[in-house]
Amino acid sequence: MIAITGANGNLGKATIQFLLQKVTPTNIVAIVRNPETVSSFKEQGVIVRQADYNDYNTLKQAFEDVEKVLQISTVGVDMEKAKQQEKNVVNAMAENNVKHIVYTSMVQAWPNPIFQGTETQYHTEELIKKTKIPYMFFRNSMYMEAIPELIGNALQTNEIRYPSGSGKVSFVSREDIAEAIANVLTENTHENQTYEITGHRAYTFDELAKLIRADMKHIDIADTIFKEELIGCQMPMEVVDLLVSMANGIKAGEFSFVDNTLGKLLGRTPSGLSEYVKNL
Ligand SMILES: NC(=O)c1ccc[n+]([C@@H]2O[C@H](COP(=O)([O-])OP(=O)(O)OC[C@H]3O[C@@H](n4cnc5c(N)ncnc54)[C@H](OP(=O)(O)O)[C@@H]3O)[C@@H](O)[C@H]2O)c1
Repeated sequence: MIAITGANGNLGKATIQFLLQKVTPTNIVAIVRNPETVSSFKEQGVIVRQADYNDYNTLKQAFEDVEKVLQISTVGVDMEKAKQQEKNVVNAMAENNVKHIVYTSMVQAWPNPIFQGTETQYHTEELIKKTKIPYMFFRNSMYMEAIPELIGNALQTNEIRYPSGSGKVSFVSREDIAEAIANVLTENTHENQTYEITGHRAYTFDELAKLIRADMKHIDIADTIFKEELIGCQMPMEVVDLLVSMANGIKAGEFSFVDNTLGKLLGRTPSGLSEYVKNL
């Protein structure tokens, strides 16, 4: 059986829809915190199991008789808590003698990133390697689908206020990632591979603004102003810090890497950013 953690999230749901085109539903295990959120999976015949990344025992039970797992990274903003959550998942997979792990990581993950989320994901990659279970890391660049949140109210104001300088992002379609993950989960040729999953080119926020609308502008605001604006939106301080670290990471080029692996995994040209922004 193939299990997917975070199965009710955007990437998990999309991956299961692609998997359903390739394997029988009873070979798919959707692992979620709250089974009520995935009643449609049950109707389609998918096995639903409950587990929380914070609760090792639930994870241990959820991976019983599972051969392959798609471990979807946590959204944790508290880095130490996030690392512990992911360690719980890795230990529970090892305890159940899972045969293959696909893990969603961050493009060009390394031990000392500026973007805090990458630190957790690199840490988890290392934990997975230590288990000696065959792995495949999907190091995803930023989703195109994250753009509406990144640009705030730019569609109304015609200005993207974001402190990314001239940093570039190799935006990639989350739907494409889901399709590629479903492909590798149903093939046996991807052992111990680290794939950088990116769009076919990277864009500065000036270029992104022009792509959305010819007269849209990118205003490269100061970090301090960005932070004040986020605090003004009543965001918890740890989320503010995470988002500032993301902008700083973009500015430093942490999301700019471009690679053609995604097209190879899909067997077709991946979706382009200009198509995506037409529907914003
Ligand atoms: N590359 C990018 O641009 C980008 C952007 C955003 C996120 N990400 C990363 O990629 C992952 C997948 O993206 P996505 O769009 O599918 O995110 P998403 O829609 O926010 O889904 C996250 C999933 O993680 C689950 N989860 C969170 N905490 C959990 C816990 N303690 N125990 C069990 N499940 C838990 C959520 O379950 P609940 O519904 O119960 O909360 C949800 O199913 C994210 O989790 C994040 O690490 C990457």
